[in-house]
Amino acid sequence: MLSTYAKHSDILFEQLPKGVFLTVKDHKGNVNTMTISWGHIGIVWNLPVFIVYVKTSRYTHELMSNATDFTVNVPKEGTLKQALKIAGEVSGNKTDKFEKGNITLGESRQVKTPIIKECQLQYECSIIYKQSQNPQEMMKDVVNKHYPDDHHHVVFYGKIVDTYLTKEAI
Ligand SMILES: Cc1cc2nc3c(=O)[nH]c(=O)nc-3n(C[C@H](O)[C@H](O)[C@H](O)COP(=O)(O)O)c2cc1C
Repeated sequence: MLSTYAKHSDILFEQLPKGVFLTVKDHKGNVNTMTISWGHIGIVWNLPVFIVYVKTSRYTHELMSNATDFTVNVPKEGTLKQALKIAGEVSGNKTDKFEKGNITLGESRQVKTPIIKECQLQYECSIIYKQSQNPQEMMKDVVNKHYPDDHHHVVFYGKIVDTYLTKEAI
């Protein structure tokens, strides 16, 4: 995996600023997805990792805190715009975003969390570390801009256990 995790990273980084899906299934079986545009892939502890930033106010944070893994699902350029909008505006606490966004879950190859079938590129990640960001260590400008509400981000490190293109993607 170390050599192949970055194989399709051009697709990821082209789409990331526009939004990709972060999907998680907790240990009770609750599944949710939300749109993210913060994240990176790289090497930590000699492992290939996908690092994501989830605010504590998100329902996704609740599930991620009780999960062993997550998936990142990357739409083909220009597709699934409405689903990304819904997943980025609505909370899965009250709404089934899969039904509302017309997206379907499919089985992952290696992890418990499903993938989103309509997406072109999939990352399956096993959570190996999480860290709460400390606003006291941030530049004042960053705190004022991003944390007026006191809800900080928690950074989740997912070991990339599989990366692949989905054949049936739209
Ligand atoms: C394009 C876009 C990118 C976003 N990126 C992030 C992100 O990286 N981290 C984050 O915590 N929220 C991000 N959000 C906000 C969440 O997607 C949004 O609050 C969502 O409704 C949370 O859903 P949940 O409560 O079901 O977890 C983003 C929203 C949009 C529209």
